[in-house]
Amino acid sequence: MVWIFLLLVLLLVILAILFVFSVSASHDTFQKMNIDSPPASRLLGHFGAALKKGIFTTQLEIYNLYKDKKVYGTYDGCHPVLNIKDPDMIKEIMVKSFNSFVNRRSFFDLDPPFKEMLVSLKDDQWKHVRKIMSRTFTSGQIKRMSKHMERKSQQLVDLLHRKQESNDDDDIELKNIISCFTLDVIASVGFGVEISSMENPDNPFAVHAKQSINLSPLLLSLAFFAPWSLTLLQKAGVSTIPKATREYFTKIIDAAIENRKEEGQAGKVNDFLDLLINSEEESGQTEKYYLTRSEIHGQALVFILAGYDTISTVLSFTLFLLTVHPEYCQIVQKEMDEKIGNESPNYDNIQGLTYMDMCLNETMRLYPPAFFIDRVCAEDTTVHGIQIPKNMVVAFPVYALHRDPEFWTEPDKFQPERFSAENKDSHHPYAYLPFGNGPRNCVGMRLALMELKIALSYILKDFTPVTCEKTVYPIKLKKLQLIAEDGLWVKLSARK
Ligand code: HEM
Repeated sequence: MVWIFLLLVLLLVILAILFVFSVSASHDTFQKMNIDSPPASRLLGHFGAALKKGIFTTQLEIYNLYKDKKVYGTYDGCHPVLNIKDPDMIKEIMVKSFNSFVNRRSFFDLDPPFKEMLVSLKDDQWKHVRKIMSRTFTSGQIKRMSKHMERKSQQLVDLLHRKQESNDDDDIELKNIISCFTLDVIASVGFGVEISSMENPDNPFAVHAKQSINLSPLLLSLAFFAPWSLTLLQKAGVSTIPKATREYFTKIIDAAIENRKEEGQAGKVNDFLDLLINSEEESGQTEKYYLTRSEIHGQALVFILAGYDTISTVLSFTLFLLTVHPEYCQIVQKEMDEKIGNESPNYDNIQGLTYMDMCLNETMRLYPPAFFIDRVCAEDTTVHGIQIPKNMVVAFPVYALHRDPEFWTEPDKFQPERFSAENKDSHHPYAYLPFGNGPRNCVGMRLALMELKIALSYILKDFTPVTCEKTVYPIKLKKLQLIAEDGLWVKLSARK
């Protein structure tokens, strides 16, 4: 009996050793390419350091090890990743050699309809859907969608007034309340559903939307750093997004589409869903400019996966940074008073708010929601003398690039003037990538900036954010997410 047990233990040890060796087999990739790479754990690659010190500190520390280099290598588990530091090389990969770097790495094997989102599509299907999506984000369409954002922003401000009148404890955690607002906008613009998750956080839309993006930090980290483990989990039946959530969204999109088709012109409300419905393939059509129903489901979901956490992060961090830097907040409010006056903020009158733009840009420099962007090399390609083999992942370490003293003086300071008309050309355009760049950049950028400016204008027109006892600054980020560990606490003081 004992010897069987010992044999089993021995077998397990041998299997474990073989497993560790097999996952770390590619750990000599960069040595062979003659590219610098810091020592990595055999099993986790550089994930071990990220778990201990946090993703952001680890990205900065590794980046700073190679001051005079254009590139360096890291390992996400067993997968080699070529990190690009040189902005000219970044430009070459994102733009000039785009055809060799069309796709992103896929972290999760998503099930439909999430599988059909533009973010995850590849090659020809990406090109086809991107063309159609770009048509839905023209100035005219964005202006029509802005009406929904104005209405939702007014509701947010009304709620903040009511909260202030009725509550003795008027401290506000910005990320919390702004996330509810962003979700209400998405429900309205992307799905034609009216919700108020600030007043009713348990409504099914809010619950399912959170289910889609609240992948546990552990799962997310595994996807980045040890993708092999995720594949094992998926094979064991662990799904990244619950089936009930996938079914819920498919159902409400289908119901909205059928309703609007029945009501014809009267049913149109000028939201994103209307634009997608216009692009729906009808039987017999041979035109290339149409989407299948499943592709429509996918693109509506893009709002949740690509537009929810990004917008709420930038909006809440900007408001917070203006709270702890009141001198800049005053400039923003003065500009608003001059350019908007007593009017309600709208698509047209927010265009002139250039100082607000500068503050948003500076927030996204310090806290870029997509702190890491990547591409997969489709064929052996030489970029600036470096041979990049087929299938290699190349990454742009956005968080570290945005804090590199070579491109930014006093990089940790919040200084909106960096983005003034006089100064904005002093940084390399590819050292600043909050929305990526090239043909695969963020398709929702202009919509996002419009939403951010409308919401900020509504809030700052009625309130001045001020610090409170719970305010903690400087911000300490959570280890694996772009979230302030101590929250973003402020008080809102009503403007006279
Ligand atoms: C402040 C808000 C946002 C930020 C900072 C942001 C940032 C980004 C970044 C960095 C990328 C990758 C670009 C690249 O690989 O070069 C991206 C892609 C994308 N974003 Fe955004 N985004 C925001 C809001 C939105 C919104 C509101 C939408 C849609 C409604 C959206 C839709 C997308 C889509 C569909 C892609 C994939 C594009 C493609 O693969 O062709 N984003 N975004």
